[in-house]
Amino acid sequence: MKLNIACISGDGIGPEIVAEAKKVLNKVCEKYGHEITYNDVLMGGCSIDAYGVPLTDETIDVCKKSDAVLMGSIGGNTSTSPWYKLEPSLRPEAGLLKIRKSLNLFANLRPAFLYPELKDACPLKEETANKGFDLLIMRELTGGLYFGERETKEVDGEMVATDTLVYRESEIRRIAIKAFEVARQRRKKVISVDKANVLDSSRLWRKVVEEVAKDYPDVELEHMLVDNCAMQIVKDPSQFDTVLTENMFGDILSDEASMVTGSIGMLPSASLNETSFGLYEPSHGSAPDIARKDIANPIATILSASMMLRYTFKLDKEADAIENAVKKVLSEGFRTTDLLGASVNTPEDKKCGCHRMGDLIAERI
Ligand code: IPM
Ligand code: MG
Repeated sequence: MKLNIACISGDGIGPEIVAEAKKVLNKVCEKYGHEITYNDVLMGGCSIDAYGVPLTDETIDVCKKSDAVLMGSIGGNTSTSPWYKLEPSLRPEAGLLKIRKSLNLFANLRPAFLYPELKDACPLKEETANKGFDLLIMRELTGGLYFGERETKEVDGEMVATDTLVYRESEIRRIAIKAFEVARQRRKKVISVDKANVLDSSRLWRKVVEEVAKDYPDVELEHMLVDNCAMQIVKDPSQFDTVLTENMFGDILSDEASMVTGSIGMLPSASLNETSFGLYEPSHGSAPDIARKDIANPIATILSASMMLRYTFKLDKEADAIENAVKKVLSEGFRTTDLLGASVNTPEDKKCGCHRMGDLIAERI
C-alpha cells in the first residue's frame, strides 16, 4: 500500500519525538511491504518564525492532499517565549485549533490504558492500580468554548472578558454516534459527561445523546456530571470504558486520565472527520524545558502512528506490531526518565533517552 503522510514536527520536543515515530513507521513499512512518503510542513511557533503566522494555507493544503497527518507538538513557554506577546489569533495554539477546524476533525480519541509493567508509576492506591484500567475519551474537538465568540472590552470602567459555549444538535449527534460505534468495538459502555445541572449546552447534549443511544440498544449509557467524573477517575478508573464529552471537559479529563497511567508521555490520540482521514498526535504538549536534551518519551507519538495505521489505513496487523513492540520494550524494563518512578530500581543500562527508546521499539518490529 502507498501511505502518503503530511508531517508536522512542530516545536519543543516535537521534532525529536516525530523522528522516532518515523523510524518505527519506516521499519513497519519495510517489513510489511508498504511504501511511505512524508511531506514535512510547518505549524505552530516554527511557522510564526518562518511566515509570521502559526498555520499557512499551504500547510492546510498539503494536509488535505495527504491520507493522514502525523504531528508532534506545538507551542513554547507561555511566560517567556516571544510567540506569546503576539495577539491570541497569531499564537502557536491558534494554528492547532485552526487546522482541526479546517480539516473538520471533530472526533478526538484519547485512549488511556495502564500497562501492567507501569503499575508502580500509577499514582493511585495499590489496590486500585492492581485492578488496571482501559478507557477511551471521545472528546468533541471543533465546537464548544474553544470555538465560540470571544471578546475582552471595557464596561463601566473595568475590563470584561466573555467566551461563549455553543453546541448545535448536529455537532452533538455526530460525536455521540462515533462514541457508540467505538464502544461497540470495546466493552459496550458509554459514560457521557456533562454539567447538565447548570449549563443549557449540557442539557441539549444529554437529550441528543439519549436519542442516539436508542440506535445502540446493545451499548449501555450512563450520564455523569463532569465534577463527579474528575473524582471518579482518581477513585476507580476501571469503571470507565468509553467516555463521551464536549471539547473543554475532554481537554481537562484527558490530561487527568493520562496522569493516572503513570506518565502523559504514554498517551496517543487520533482526531478524525467523517472519512478515514485523521490527524495523529500525542496528547501531551511541546515540553520546551526538556527539548533537544534527548530525554523526551517518544512512546505517545509512536502509539499515535500505530493509531494512524489502524484508523486511516485499516492496517491492523501493522498497528498491532507497533503496540506489541512497545509492550515488549516496557516488559524488558527499558524506561525513559518520565517512567522511572515506575521502577525505582531501574538499572543504568535500562535507562534510555528519546533516540534509544525509538531504536529499541523499531528493533522489535
Ligand atoms: C490538547 C491541547 C490543546 C487543546 C491546546 C494546545 C490548544 O491542550 O490537545 O489537549 O486544548 O486542545
Ligand atoms: Mg490539552
